[in-house]
Amino acid sequence: MRETNQAELDEVICDCSGTTRGKILSLVEQGIIDPDTISRKTGAISGCGSCEWDIETILDEAIAKL
Ligand code: FES
Repeated sequence: MRETNQAELDEVICDCSGTTRGKILSLVEQGIIDPDTISRKTGAISGCGSCEWDIETILDEAIAKL
């Protein structure tokens, strides 16, 4: 399975909060895998909400690799 590259880590997933894929994956590495806690810690999903599906997809993919 390939590694996530730096450009992917720097990709802003939530425009409202500026939350990047790397920030989300870093939280997953700390054992934080539920969208509510990700939202509380980053501000993602707490604005327009349009990033929710993307974040859930990232979480699903990251959890599958654990
Ligand atoms: S893009 Fe994440 S809350 Fe708006």
